[in-house]
Amino acid sequence: MLRILAAAALILAGLTSVALTQETRPPEVAGLRGTAPLADNSDSPRMPRVEDGAMRRVRNYPEQPPTIPHHIDGYQVDRNANQCLSCHARARTGESGAPMVSITHFMDREGQFLATVSPRRYFCNQCHVPQVDARPPVENDFVDIDSLINPTGRQ
Ligand code: HEC
Ligand code: HEC
Repeated sequence: MLRILAAAALILAGLTSVALTQETRPPEVAGLRGTAPLADNSDSPRMPRVEDGAMRRVRNYPEQPPTIPHHIDGYQVDRNANQCLSCHARARTGESGAPMVSITHFMDREGQFLATVSPRRYFCNQCHVPQVDARPPVENDFVDIDSLINPTGRQ
């Protein structure tokens, strides 16, 4: 009987000490900001390197805005000027060798084609981002539609 009581007392003591340490130390949470305690600042993640002059990346689905295979540091895009269009506008592609913005960029919200790039496609960086060597912060099991239709990969 005594032994059982002693064991029970030990277990109880153990539990209280666990409860106490949990109370004094905030729980470790491993979210996107790492395991830094909630009250502290976490270390800033490394700035990813921009792939300049890189190969174009395959789009994950046809409607994806293609990623930008070159740096865009200091390219002005505001009310006064759009430096992207100085290469990607239809009339500029001859000298720049850049692909023309596609026809969807001339459409207004009713699907009407305008003479110039539509205001809703003016701020290029709303949708297009430069390619960087970043790892996805959250794992995902996205499957390309081609692999879904044709899992063997044979044409
Ligand atoms: C000096 C000319 C120049 C400027 C300025 C420029 N680009 Fe480009 N861009 C190019 C060229 C050339 C390519 C094609 C590169 C290749 O095929 O390897 C390209 C490729 C791209 C692509 C990939 C297209 C595709 O089909 O994969 C996107 C998106 C793009 N640029 C967006 C932008 C945006 C947004 C800006 C402004 C922030 C910009 N570019 C400014 C010359 C330019
Ligand atoms: C609202 C989102 C959005 C904005 C803003 C936008 N784009 Fe796009 N862009 C897309 C999407 C989506 C595609 C791929 C499907 C398509 O062509 O519409 C694309 C395709 C492209 C392509 C590839 C064209 C081709 O035929 O392969 C280029 C180059 C491009 N955009 C450049 C630009 C430039 C330069 C700007 C700024 C003047 C711009 N885009 C603004 C969404 C956008």
